[in-house]
Amino acid sequence: AQTEAAETLTARAATARIAPADYPDTAVWSYNGAVPGAPIRLRQGERLRRLFRNDLDQPGTVHWHGIRIDNAMDGVPGLTQSVVAPGDSYLYDFELPDAGTYWFHPHNRAWEQMARGLSGALIVEETNGAPEVALDEVLLIDDWRLSEDGQIAGGFNDMHDWAHAGRIGNWVTVNGTGGWRRMVARNARVRLRLINAANARIFNVAAQGLEGWIVALDGMPLDAPRRFDQLTLAPAQRADLVVDVTATVDEKAYLVGLEGNSGYALATFDVDGEAHAERLPAPNALPANPVSALGAVNEARRIELRMEGGAMGSMRGATMSGRMMGMSELVNAGKVWAFNGMADMPDNPLFEARAGETVKVAIVNDTAWPHAMHLHGHHFRQVLRDGTTGPLRDTLLMDRDESVEIAFVADNPGDWLLHCHMLEHSAGGMMTWLRVT
Ligand code: C2O
Ligand code: CU
Ligand code: CU
Repeated sequence: AQTEAAETLTARAATARIAPADYPDTAVWSYNGAVPGAPIRLRQGERLRRLFRNDLDQPGTVHWHGIRIDNAMDGVPGLTQSVVAPGDSYLYDFELPDAGTYWFHPHNRAWEQMARGLSGALIVEETNGAPEVALDEVLLIDDWRLSEDGQIAGGFNDMHDWAHAGRIGNWVTVNGTGGWRRMVARNARVRLRLINAANARIFNVAAQGLEGWIVALDGMPLDAPRRFDQLTLAPAQRADLVVDVTATVDEKAYLVGLEGNSGYALATFDVDGEAHAERLPAPNALPANPVSALGAVNEARRIELRMEGGAMGSMRGATMSGRMMGMSELVNAGKVWAFNGMADMPDNPLFEARAGETVKVAIVNDTAWPHAMHLHGHHFRQVLRDGTTGPLRDTLLMDRDESVEIAFVADNPGDWLLHCHMLEHSAGGMMTWLRVT
């Protein structure tokens, strides 16, 4: 496998043109000055080497979301590495076993650092079997809360965000711009790699003037491409689409973000050339990544998600908030998010698994909000009621009051987080970990 020289990935303050056109530039936190960070593109089997340099005024780390890597490279402060202090650096160096669409972001005060702009795509290209496309585009979707003057400062995370749906913004960008568009030839085949980098917003994405298929979810190829009309993308989820830009109605095609009865353009394609009826054949399935097949499963471990109220919750909340965030409002309200009654990162793992064991976890959402459950270091499958399993994912959207079962082969030794990727929820306690020995 080829080895890259260690380029530097610096987290630092910058300004960027993310707000609507007539607004001033926005003060952001960036990777190497860019928001989002420039996509890192490598090939399956290669090594990624980045010297992370922290030029922010608070500690940070980099987490490589969805990539099955060595535990020491996972970027979780206090669990897999120590935080990188302002002015310090840390070398991330690991092999990329899986092809697909992944991403990177901080894992310290992620609710703030990501709301200020820190995230980027990690694209691992297939060594063979990639669909032939005219264009291969990353569409990193983010959602910002901007004040009247187009700034982030102070404008995020009030009590309502912590205790309800998380921080939902008032401005959506794709690759850091409110008006992503490209010129394409009519009937061009395009690969779109969607990444939801928002703190908490769930996107409903629909096609207009595009004929498409979903070929991968959360980086992992589907066994068979699935027709794409509409798709839900919870925070941290990704979808690889292969679309043909047919645009039979006018000279434009869109990816639309649906919001109630209306919609807005997430991406616009200006289509060039005559309309013609010929259709391209459906794409082939992408080659599978080397993920272990599920084995026989023992009894499920059970996890309950709760919003903790009352005395116990308040006590734990007070401890946690004082230590982690100073969320005095939350303490006063006596409300925090909890796993099995633990509203803090526990000192001990929620459970241990032996390497190679197939683990089944029943997750009970006993709250009035949806959650986006994310497991580090492994991809899992949802076990459906009829015993069949869903596609490999690393983040699963659970509806309010929904219960799900997931199963995965615990084949990556180390301490791995399991948390809600709605960042106000995980910071508010919905974060635990398990140990694979
Ligand atoms: Cu996308 Cu624990 O992270
Ligand atoms: Cu992750
Ligand atoms: Cu949540």
